Amino acid sequence: MRKKIVAGNWKMNNDSQQTKVLLDEILAKKPGSTPVKIVVAPTFVNLQAAVNQTNGSNIIVAAQNMHQAESGAYTGEVSVGMLKSINVNTVILGHSERRAYFGETNSLLAEKVNTALKHNLTVIFCFGEELADRQSSNHFNVVESQLREGLFHITESDWQNIVLAYEPVWAIGTGETATPEQAQEMHAFIRNLLRENVGEAIAGQTSILYGGSVKPDNASEIFSKPDVDGGLIGGASLKADDFLAIVNGMK
Ligand code: 13P
Repeated sequence: MRKKIVAGNWKMNNDSQQTKVLLDEILAKKPGSTPVKIVVAPTFVNLQAAVNQTNGSNIIVAAQNMHQAESGAYTGEVSVGMLKSINVNTVILGHSERRAYFGETNSLLAEKVNTALKHNLTVIFCFGEELADRQSSNHFNVVESQLREGLFHITESDWQNIVLAYEPVWAIGTGETATPEQAQEMHAFIRNLLRENVGEAIAGQTSILYGGSVKPDNASEIFSKPDVDGGLIGGASLKADDFLAIVNGMK
């Protein structure tokens, strides 16, 4: 069974006090029981407090990034062991902002994926085409390469710890969402790639999230598509009411 997941990527927003307030609101207002896994990804410095604050709830705290090396002279970086030591067991890798602003390539991401999986983290693996790729009808090729070069080398059992997040770059933070049909078309393409390259069972079990300007008023229509298993939410995850409305849009 595919998991339904709604994840909030808070990016470089919220200081420690704002993190506490937002989490308090989410904890107070979230549905008592929901089939949806709720994930929040605060910035590194607020992870420990977020883990403590959500202890005993069903909210999962994720990191937005990690380094590929286990430890060493990498000033300013954060390792997998550091995340695990504070009970962060989920990490977002390959976000388009990491690719665009921090030079993260498919091959670097393959290394990060290996390190995360070696330590049994769940990876939310992000990918998606830029506007020019879609305009030149190259979007399926770009997505296929991102998956082949960054992810398809892993073993079949490792797929249990992978969540895919298709985020077309032109839809991130722009207010321009992929139509539900565009999302479904790409998600079906991705699931088919999994079927052909990894196998039917993994294709049927792997959750594929959509990200890019998901809001309370468009979430349920996107989530209603058969190959969309949830969302990775940026801007709208910074307000508890909006985020939870999106969670409730996932039936
Ligand atoms: P927005 O929801 O702000 O478009 O951001 C999406 C995103 O990048 C989530 O990782």
